[in-house]
Formats: sequence, structure tokens, C-alpha cells
Amino acid sequence: MIDIHTHILPSLDDGPQTIEESIELCKIAANDGIKTIVATPHSKDGVYEAKSDEILRKVTELNLKLKEIQLDLEILPGAEVHINERLAEDIESGEALAINNGKKFILLELPFIFIPPATDKLISSLKSIGIVSILSHAERIMKFQKKPEILEQLVKSGALVQITAQSLTGDFGSSERKCAEWLLKHNIVHFIASDVHSLTGRPPILSRALERAAKIMGEEEAIALVSHNPRQIINGHDFRPKENY
Ligand SMILES: [Fe+2]
Repeated sequence: MIDIHTHILPSLDDGPQTIEESIELCKIAANDGIKTIVATPHSKDGVYEAKSDEILRKVTELNLKLKEIQLDLEILPGAEVHINERLAEDIESGEALAINNGKKFILLELPFIFIPPATDKLISSLKSIGIVSILSHAERIMKFQKKPEILEQLVKSGALVQITAQSLTGDFGSSERKCAEWLLKHNIVHFIASDVHSLTGRPPILSRALERAAKIMGEEEAIALVSHNPRQIINGHDFRPKENY
């Protein structure tokens, strides 16, 4: 499995604060069957401003530590970038780090309580220059919970959708679980990711959510959300959902 949304690097945001804690999280992920993790620290959200060079340096450092302890897990660089008007320029300059530093797929965070009016246009204009927006933890955004059709519209504009493993298992509450299930039933989820933050809060575990998703949409389709689909993103391929999905 591949986890495309994680706060796994130490002391960059509200994720782990020490490399030891990062390593513990990596052990849990590997034990759950995760082979690749994209590190996506918060960027440009007004509180955390993880810089690209720092992210790249910490990814290299963590990979070296994992090699030392012979853990079969690879960390790739990325960021969870809060929506802003300068996004295209920031991606081009490398200030906003795209997934696997590829300048093609960006993990885009929207505010939890409202959708900025120009979101639709931003997603389309990024798409027109070859950048695909992946909307992070869509099921936790209140507007989408109340009216998931708004999210459907953004998908038509070219966005892809990531939901959180722990929402599917009910750990965030019933609104998040119901929204996640609705999105799965309507085939507008492209990725399940952990959004891991800590050992206690949100661990890097995908297998339980995968089981839930398989019950809703079938095993093969569910596996695509943690394997086939994320693989295309990290390889920078043009995104094509799994056949029959
Ligand atoms: Fe996140």
C-alpha cells in the first residue's frame, strides 16, 4: 500500500516532533503493509510554513535512518498546501512542493468551514497548465458533508479526492463516516490515506479502512484506492482510475 497524505517528518508541523517518533510511526506503517509514504507537511496554512528544501532534507534523513534499521519502507517528498492565489507560481518555482517533487499532483487543503468562491476556477486553471489538485480529507470539510454535490462539481473541474482512513472507520464521528461512505458509493474517491499525525491521534494504518471500503465497493476497487491510484501519482503518470472503477 501507498499512503499519499502523512505528517511523518519531525518538527515541521503538528506531526511528530522527534525523529525517534517518526521512526516509530514508520514501523507501524510498515507493519500495516504500507511500502511507500509521501510526507506531506502543512504548508502555507497561516500557521505552518514547511519549506521545500527543509522537507527534502528531512525526507533524505529519515530514509537513511530507515535503511539503517532495515525497515522496508520508502519516504517520498510532498506537502499539504493550503489553497492560495499564488499556487501556480509557487508550484513552478518549487516553493510549493508537489507530490514526489514532480510538479504534477498537488495535495490541496481547503478550509474546513467554507469553500473559497474561486476554488472551481483555480482547479480548472491549474489543470490547464498540467497540475492536478488532490483535495485532502474531503470528507472532513463541512460544506461537502452537507452537500457532497459541490465536491462532485470540483471533480468535474479536474480535482481528485482523498479521504481519511480514520473517517471510514468512524474514529472522527458520524458526519465524517457518512460523508466518506457517500463519496465511496458515488465513486468520487480516488485515494484513502492516513493523514497520520501521531502515535496516539491518527496512526498510519490503512488496512482497517481498506476492509470497510471493500465492504462498500468491492475488494478490487477498494485496493485501487491505496495501491493502483497512488502509484500513478507518485510515478507522475497521467491519472487514469482503475478500469471498471
Ligand atoms: Fe494533513
